[in-house]
Amino acid sequence: MRLQCVVDNSVEPSSAFWGEHGLSFLIEADDGRRLLFDTGASGTVLLHDLERAGVEIETLAAIVLSHSHHDHTGGLPAVLERRRGLRVHAHPDLVRPRYSEKDGVKVPRGLPLSPEVLNRRADLSLSESSERVLPGIWTSGEIKERCEPEGRSPNHVVRRADGWAPDPYRDDLSLVLETGAGLFVVCGCCHAGLLNTLAHVRRHFGKDPVGIAGGTHLAGAGRDQLARTVTRLRERGSPMLHLNHCTGPAAFVALSQAFGERVLHCPAGTTLEL
Ligand SMILES: [Fe+2]
Ligand SMILES: [Fe+2]
Repeated sequence: MRLQCVVDNSVEPSSAFWGEHGLSFLIEADDGRRLLFDTGASGTVLLHDLERAGVEIETLAAIVLSHSHHDHTGGLPAVLERRRGLRVHAHPDLVRPRYSEKDGVKVPRGLPLSPEVLNRRADLSLSESSERVLPGIWTSGEIKERCEPEGRSPNHVVRRADGWAPDPYRDDLSLVLETGAGLFVVCGCCHAGLLNTLAHVRRHFGKDPVGIAGGTHLAGAGRDQLARTVTRLRERGSPMLHLNHCTGPAAFVALSQAFGERVLHCPAGTTLEL
């Protein structure tokens, strides 16, 4: 199995890839079929970076969306424009409108397509349960138990009948890859919380992962939460950490101090053979 970061907030110096605040991974199953996990924030960057990765959109077998936020779904219209009817996996709450609040103004931050248009253009599979997408590649299913702190941003809100409320992030999914070395977890923003996601994977897949890649949304985590994250990760066997997107520099430093060479940066263009 092969995983390549196609879009991230950062790129290596002189990289042919473009960066933007967003995330997209290309994952190739053992049978050669490939899927996109998230689509970055824009079609412009996604299409450019897929071309750099040597990927023709017509060859994609599926898309999995970690959640609805625009920095993960912004490239979706451009892909579906070129690949009508492509299978798209996500949680049913994907289509719920999302907003980001700034200075009292609510700005839409969810899907760039209406649910009706998405339904017409994609072969949509919305499920709260874990789904097998390709051989050895599963969605996590909804992460319902959230005993540990979630990966929240205080400005993320949804509209309810009785007014505005914090986004419950019910749609937050990760991917679980069955590799020869063990399970590997790929996170989008990890709004459900990294530790909650790992506990969910253990409960539903029976094992702790040997590696994790993606955004861990620890950017706002305080010292106590970071220390707790280190302790829990140790208890789960100190998986390899390929961190990017919303992990945040303080978390990257804290995890690097704790786990040394087991922590790696994962900018756009990074390829992992799993
Ligand atoms: Fe997000
Ligand atoms: Fe994000």
